[in-house]
Amino acid sequence: MSDRKPIVGGNWKMNTNRAESAELARGVVDGLRDVTNVDVAVFPPYPYLLAVRAILRERSSSLRLGAQDVYHKPDGAYTGEVSTEMLRDCGVEIVLCGHSERRHVLGESDAVVNLKLRAIVDSGMEAVLCVGETLDERIAGHTDPVIQRQVRAGLADVTGDHVSSVTIAYEPVWAIGTGKTATPDDAQSVHANIRRLIAGMYGQDTAERMRIMYGGSVKPSNAAELFKAPDVDGGLIGGASLKVGEFVPIVRAAMAAARGQV
Ligand code: 13P
Repeated sequence: MSDRKPIVGGNWKMNTNRAESAELARGVVDGLRDVTNVDVAVFPPYPYLLAVRAILRERSSSLRLGAQDVYHKPDGAYTGEVSTEMLRDCGVEIVLCGHSERRHVLGESDAVVNLKLRAIVDSGMEAVLCVGETLDERIAGHTDPVIQRQVRAGLADVTGDHVSSVTIAYEPVWAIGTGKTATPDDAQSVHANIRRLIAGMYGQDTAERMRIMYGGSVKPSNAAELFKAPDVDGGLIGGASLKVGEFVPIVRAAMAAARGQV
């Protein structure tokens, strides 16, 4: 890890109920009171955003409220969709786009991901652009071209000013929810390539400032090793973010990595 402030996100996906989301939010807030050198965000399901926001406020927490997705149109006849303004109205500051489950289960294309990303940053929120190759793509040796395509397409027409509101999450699809994790060397290599690509697109300074998180079966037992890699600036956590006893130690691993203690 470098002098970039690490960021760790808890993507709760389509999990928890009203009581569980409140309990999880309280547990995470209370467990991370002393953490200042890591940005921490939670991404609850839409119906629980307001309840989680109320908990963050009542406890004066610095945890950031995130949303798992958004629709790019400002309003209108888009049944079932949610706009950036609705999210902002609910206190959301940071939004995922292009998560592999959106791409591969819900069929979102690179072009749709780009529309969403632009809507998020245009509205003044931060975007997390998720990219990652499938197992078949990795076996075929296509990891780098796939990631390059997703990053270039995701950031198409995003200006240098707006790109400072973007974090990239590298989440190899084969590592998500499978218990298989990229080795720190594999993650480092892809992250370094993404940073080189950003340098080519936006210049070295922007690339040095851009945070690139790793996601895919991050656990307390492997977080420290992953976060030690120089281009890994934190993690996007799925399954382990649903348990306070796992998410808190993962954030603490990022905190220790940022202090050079691992
Ligand atoms: P898991 O941590 O459950 O593998 O999920 C990772 C992820 O998809 C986070 O967005």
